[in-house]
Amino acid sequence: MLNLQKIEAGYGESMVVRNVNLQVKPGQIVCLLGRNGVGKSTLLKSIMGLIKPKFGSIYFNERNITSFPTDRRAKSGIGYVPQGREIFPQLTVEENLLLGLEAATDGRKKTPDSLFDTFPVLRQMLHRKGGDLSGGQQQQLAIARALALGPTLLLLDEPMEGIQPSIVMEIEAFIESIKRNREIAVLLVEQSLEFATNIADYYYVLDRGKIAAEGRTDHLNEEQVRKHLTV
Ligand SMILES: Nc1ncnc2c1ncn2[C@@H]1O[C@H](COP(=O)(O)OP(=O)(O)OP(=O)(O)O)[C@@H](O)[C@H]1O
Ligand SMILES: [Mg+2]
Repeated sequence: MLNLQKIEAGYGESMVVRNVNLQVKPGQIVCLLGRNGVGKSTLLKSIMGLIKPKFGSIYFNERNITSFPTDRRAKSGIGYVPQGREIFPQLTVEENLLLGLEAATDGRKKTPDSLFDTFPVLRQMLHRKGGDLSGGQQQQLAIARALALGPTLLLLDEPMEGIQPSIVMEIEAFIESIKRNREIAVLLVEQSLEFATNIADYYYVLDRGKIAAEGRTDHLNEEQVRKHLTV
């Protein structure tokens, strides 16, 4: 479903991501591991079209989307939850969710009710400003916003980072439910090897912009992977 071929990406003259080949199959949970600053977020931004790869191709459902603008990628079924959430603090929860529907071509103006079944707290806080929510609630809002268009692939950039344990558990339960239904594939950036190996089907380890290891999580060699994760 998602197929990255020889992706090179960076900022200005500096190359951050080098020769990355990566695949996500329908319904699969794939984890992208790696130390701080190795290029994980940069890779997700290239998939979403927020930065333009300097080389390589991105295929989504067999279509070459390398030159698609971001909204067209969203429309074709890719949901994105950026690192640090990036919700709009001055807008209400409801307005933030409606922004998730912005790319809809069919003029949809209503947030799907299922989002509130996933994260009930958002219904209670519908008219509250995004900025007044706790970090964890903002993360739930960012995920719900990414789900609004009904994506078939969800990109999650460190969704557990800096979040209170109770909400970490809710987000884990949400990812587990996605895994059970197998209707949405997930590319998850995560620092915790333990969580990644528990939930993901497949993993990639990025080290200084390159894929240093990959494989099925049930065959994961922890020693080999940790080598690329410890500072
Ligand atoms: N907008 C930018 N302009 C210039 N350099 C950037 C920009 N964003 C990131 N970088 C640099 O690119 C490199 C990779 O950053 P990136 O955010 O992709 O890493 P990461 O693996 O997501 O790290 P973390 O785990 O800390 O989130 C870093 O050296 C970073 O300083
Ligand atoms: Mg990052």
